[in-house]
Amino acid sequence: MQFIDSIKNLFGPPARVAEPGVKVAPPGEYVIRPLTKRHLREVTLLNAECFPNGDSYTRHTLDFLLSQPTTLSYRIVTEDNDTVGFAFVMVNETGTAHLTTIGISPKHRRRGLAKRLLVHVENALRARSINTLVLEVRVKNTAAQELYRQKGFYVVQRLNKYYTDGEDCFLMMKAIY
Ligand SMILES: CC(C)(COP(=O)(O)OP(=O)(O)OC[C@H]1O[C@@H](n2cnc3c(N)ncnc32)[C@H](O)[C@@H]1OP(=O)(O)O)[C@@H](O)C(=O)NCCC(=O)NCCS
Repeated sequence: MQFIDSIKNLFGPPARVAEPGVKVAPPGEYVIRPLTKRHLREVTLLNAECFPNGDSYTRHTLDFLLSQPTTLSYRIVTEDNDTVGFAFVMVNETGTAHLTTIGISPKHRRRGLAKRLLVHVENALRARSINTLVLEVRVKNTAAQELYRQKGFYVVQRLNKYYTDGEDCFLMMKAIY
């Protein structure tokens, strides 16, 4: 979302990357919980860890998103309650939804956690009768594109120089029904 992209660094420098030390849990031991302002510090650090290339949101932007009644936000946690993944979705006035950001801690990747978060998001949207989910992804982010394709998203447009460093993005969409 260009609006979010344009404000994400307005309020300060990106957060420092979290120190390693979160325990890796067996795949069955993760659960999805609501993400609220109480988790702002940990999600800011995790966001920076997931987006070391400068795409991370500042604490202030995440705080802003968590203040909006139109934001749905979830975290995925280990049995020790360590947050190792997050997803933010904004519901637009038009009744469509936008996946603003999603990330999984590097130590916990390839365990199906992002897929689980996306299923959870889709169920939450379906329950609200929202039937379209859109997102932008860097053209070079083939890992995320593969995730989205697996979950039924398709590319509807390539947006030139979408990111501040000049990289294009794919606008992807999924119908939820
Ligand atoms: C993209 C990201 C969220 C995937 O999280 P994840 O929990 O590892 O993803 P999953 O385990 O649910 O993987 C689902 C599918 O996505 C694809 N995928 C995920 N990581 C991949 C990789 N590194 N290379 C190729 N395909 C990949 C695979 O098809 C995978 O299915 P498989 O494991 O059965 O082959 C994670 O890599 C991440 O946080 N990346 C940095 C942040 C980011 O780029 N977010 C998206 C911004 S648009």
